[in-house]
Amino acid sequence: MSATGRDDLGGATLSPEDFERLSAFIEARFGIHAGPAKRVLLETRLRKRLRALRMGSFEQYCAQVLSAGAGGELAEFVDAITTNKTDFFREPGHFDLLSRRLLPELAARRSPGEELRVWSAGCSTGEEPYTLAMVLADTLGDATRFRVVATDLSRRVLRHAAAGLYRDDQVQPVPLELRRRFLERSLENPDVVRVGPALRGRVTFRLLNLLDENYGHDRPFDAIFCRNVLIYFRRETQREVIARLCRTLARDGFLFLGHSESINGMDLPLAQIAPTVYTRSEAPGAPRSRVGT
Ligand SMILES: C[S@@+](CC[C@H](N)C(=O)[O-])C[C@H]1O[C@@H](n2cnc3c(N)ncnc32)[C@H](O)[C@@H]1O
Repeated sequence: MSATGRDDLGGATLSPEDFERLSAFIEARFGIHAGPAKRVLLETRLRKRLRALRMGSFEQYCAQVLSAGAGGELAEFVDAITTNKTDFFREPGHFDLLSRRLLPELAARRSPGEELRVWSAGCSTGEEPYTLAMVLADTLGDATRFRVVATDLSRRVLRHAAAGLYRDDQVQPVPLELRRRFLERSLENPDVVRVGPALRGRVTFRLLNLLDENYGHDRPFDAIFCRNVLIYFRRETQREVIARLCRTLARDGFLFLGHSESINGMDLPLAQIAPTVYTRSEAPGAPRSRVGT
């Protein structure tokens, strides 16, 4: 702060050239497409980093982030540029379909004792994977083992997710009966709830960039939720990522995309079974029997 109390770093602006360099880097490394309309948003988000580092210009900041040794700042940069909006039971039709039709179908096809595996790819602060864990536990009971793998690019959201702490208003979309079974009220703060240890134990969180060539999963998934992540990517990147997701999806598994995401016109080994829900097919695009969500 200056003697007048004005924050001297607040006036720094992100030039069109520096924006170009940063947006090209973000797209190449993380897939996130930031067109010129996003310059002010990026500037606002990164200004906090300039303050934290006590840097006087975006030029200096770009040089650091784009240098080979950006290290810790690269993680902070990712935290700043990602959009993490999410909710419990977001797009609830998907969870209805899963519990009413798809989980019973999958459980019946698996051998006794075999673990069902679901991946929340781009899990943000954990609301999606915990919703999945509740739905799986509720639908399958004790008869079927399951695991939810939850991944994201941002370390900050993964820390939040692993802690499993939410404000009371955030868990309102969770049906009361599931809230009673799986969430615990904090003794210190009645406005805070925590996902109970049994459910947290069913979810594994891990850092993963969907642009990586190899996701390193040891077994295929019965269902993959990759919702509201690909909207930030260009169409060609979306296609490449979905093709890679297909390789980690079991032959009879299901892929869920966000409601504003579509694979129309993409040459992929998927057949649609419900709006934004797909299963693998050998003939790309061939429809399978449709079911309602
Ligand atoms: C808007 S949130 C969606 C969260 C949740 N899937 C939902 O639908 O509510 C998008 C998440 O995708 C993550 N993300 C963006 N690009 C990614 C990438 N290349 N690899 C992995 N995660 C990414 C972001 O960090 C963010 O947490």
